[in-house]
Amino acid sequence: MNEKEIRNTKARMPDTVDPDQIRRWFPALKSTEVFLDNAGGSQLPISVIDQIREYYANTYVQLGADYPTGRRATHTVEQAREVQKILMNAGETGQIILGPSTSALCAMLADCYARALDPNRNEVIVCEAGHEANVGPWVRLADRGYVVKTWRLDPNTFTNPLDELEILLSAKTRVLAVPHVSNLLGAIEDISVLAQMAHQVGARIVVDGVAYAPHRAMDVAGWDVDYYVYSSYKVYGPHMAVMFGTHQALAALEGPNHFFIHQEEVPHKFELGGVLHEGCAGILGLPPYLGFLAGSDEETRFDRSVVERAFEVMTRCELPLQGKLIEYLQGKDQVRLIGPGDTGRSRVGTISFVHRRKSSKEIVLAANAQGVGIRYGHFYAHRLATALGLDPEDGVVRASLLHYNTEAEIDRLINCLDQLL
Ligand SMILES: Cc1ncc(COP(=O)(O)O)c(C=O)c1O
Repeated sequence: MNEKEIRNTKARMPDTVDPDQIRRWFPALKSTEVFLDNAGGSQLPISVIDQIREYYANTYVQLGADYPTGRRATHTVEQAREVQKILMNAGETGQIILGPSTSALCAMLADCYARALDPNRNEVIVCEAGHEANVGPWVRLADRGYVVKTWRLDPNTFTNPLDELEILLSAKTRVLAVPHVSNLLGAIEDISVLAQMAHQVGARIVVDGVAYAPHRAMDVAGWDVDYYVYSSYKVYGPHMAVMFGTHQALAALEGPNHFFIHQEEVPHKFELGGVLHEGCAGILGLPPYLGFLAGSDEETRFDRSVVERAFEVMTRCELPLQGKLIEYLQGKDQVRLIGPGDTGRSRVGTISFVHRRKSSKEIVLAANAQGVGIRYGHFYAHRLATALGLDPEDGVVRASLLHYNTEAEIDRLINCLDQLL
C-alpha cells in the first residue's frame, strides 16, 4: 500500500484513531515481536522511509552548488528546518540547529559556554534526574572556571522540588540545564515555570526534550525557553537531533565552526561539517503522517494546528495503554514503580520498575525470550539510578510505549510479566 492509499483510510479528530490504520504506516510494526523500547528510538512511517530512499536515488549531492540537483539538495535541508520550526513552534523567535545527536548538541553548547566564561556569572545548575547528555557536559564546566550545582530529586515523590531550585538559583547562575521528562521516571515537568524562574535571575534555560517530544506537541515559543534539544530518531524520524535556540541566546555565543564562517551566520556557526542530508529528506516525510493523524486532507498545509491535533491524537491513544500498565504494576506487592503512579496526562508512557527479589536483567531477558521487546539498565540516567539506591548496571525494567502500540501488546507484556513476577 502506498502513502496515498494509506492516507485514504483517513483518521478523524477529535475521536481516537483505529490502531490498525496507524500501524499500516509503519512497515516495521508488521513484526510479531512486541516493540516496547520506544524511548530508545521510535519506528519510521513509510512516508519518511520513502523520502530518504528518493533522496538517495535522485538528490544525493553536496549542498551549495548551483546545478539543479545541487539546488534541490540545498532546498531539502532548508525545508527540513522549516518543518522543525513548525514542529517546535519556533515562529520567529529563534533558529534550528541540526546535529547528529542530542548528546553532541548539548556538548557543543556547553563548550560554547566554556569559552564564554563570565566570572560574575559562572554558575550552572544541572538536574540529578537528567539524562547524562544534558548533565555531563555542564558538570565538566567545573574544569573550565564554572561552579556546578545539582538540583536533587525527592526520591519519595519522584519530583524535582521547586523550593530547592529557588535556593540554587542566584544572580550568578548562567545556565539551568533540565530534562522536560526524565527517560526513567516519565513525569512531565512544567517547563514554563522553570524558564520563568531561570529568567528571573537572568539565567538561560537548556531543556532536554528527548523524552517529551515523541508524546506531546513541543511549544518552545509558548514555554519561553532559550534552548530546547531533542532527538529526531525518537520522534518518527531519522537518526539526527535538533536544537532550537532563541536569536538572542545564539547570537551571544561564539560557534565552533571554521574561522571563515562568520559569527552572524546562525545556524551554520554551530554546525561543524555537513548535516545529515538524507535525514533532512526523511524529516520532510513527517508532515504527511502527522496530517493523517490530524485528519487533514492532502491539500492541507502543514501548520501548527496539524501538529497540535496530531499530538493530541497520539496522547489519546497512549493514555489508556499507560494507565493499564501502571495499574497492573501497582497491584503487584513485590514491584516498586520508579516514577509517579499517576496515570493521566501529567506523565508519558515511559514506565520503569524494579522487583524486590528478581533482577531487572532476569525479568527483561525472560520477556525478550517471549518476543516482548523491553529492556533494562540505567538508560544513561546513571546519576539518577544511583541516587535512587539502585545498582545502575541492573537499573530498572523499562517498557516505553507510543501511540502506535496496542492494547493487545500491553496485554502480552502483562501476561508475560504475570508469569515472571
Ligand atoms: C532523555 C534523553 N536525553 C538525551 C538522550 C540522548 O540522545 P542522543 O542519543 O540523541 O544523544 C536520550 C537518549 O536516550 C534521552 O532519553
